[in-house]
Amino acid sequence: MKDKSYDTDLLKLIDFKKLPKHIAIIMDGNGRWAKRKFLPRYFGHQEGMKRVIDIVSASSKLGIDCLTLYAFSTENWKRPEEEIESLMKILVSYIRKELEKLVENNVKLNIIGDISNFPTLARTEVERAIFETENNTGMNLNIALNYGGRDEIIYGIKNLLNDYKLGKINIDNLNSEIFSNYLYTKGQPDPDLLIRPSGELRISNFMLYQIAYTEFWFSDVLWPDFSEDKLYEAIIDFQKRNRRFGGL
Ligand code: FPP
Repeated sequence: MKDKSYDTDLLKLIDFKKLPKHIAIIMDGNGRWAKRKFLPRYFGHQEGMKRVIDIVSASSKLGIDCLTLYAFSTENWKRPEEEIESLMKILVSYIRKELEKLVENNVKLNIIGDISNFPTLARTEVERAIFETENNTGMNLNIALNYGGRDEIIYGIKNLLNDYKLGKINIDNLNSEIFSNYLYTKGQPDPDLLIRPSGELRISNFMLYQIAYTEFWFSDVLWPDFSEDKLYEAIIDFQKRNRRFGGL
């Protein structure tokens, strides 16, 4: 059984005045988790969804402004059709199960990525959740769906060029801050902390523009075994870092 007193001890070590404003997570290791248990990969994703529920709730309770979860990349279409279908089903069931709670907890759902080619059911459920949470003022929950960091930069350039054509932007004044407002994360702070479980030490095309000065935290734990205490550990570790943003 999980030792809850451990959570409480870790919570006490968090400095609530120095919380990361934006946490981003590459949820990785669902497949390996299932394989270790001799189960089909689907079970790993399903268990991964339960961790999404836990971590969204823990982050919102902590007072994190923005949580971004990498759920489906532009490269994930290379997976077998059956696995893609099961991920879509899990997304739909997550929304059906959790939307009420998201509304209650004042969480605002945003999608980063392009879901226009998603199956109709998944797309309409996601759009319904965005609509029903649009006036919420608590934590921003970004779910990255059909998301790629390079695609996002190109999406930003296209948006920018459109504004240029309309005479809305003076190219001489363009800077990184203005450009960031053409991305999916418009108006949001860059991630302060990026968490990647499962032992992999790479970025996998995630938030390439926004992570210029993000602190990274890696863990060998597979996403389905990731718990609130791992999130607290990552935050405590983050709070010990000396962030200089290129200065001294
Ligand atoms: C990476 O693990 C995980 C994914 C591609 C899917 C993430 C999806 C979830 C956590 C489920 C639900 C999400 C939401 C937002 C409802 P992997 O399959 O690549 O693992 P492996 O590297 O061990 O094979």
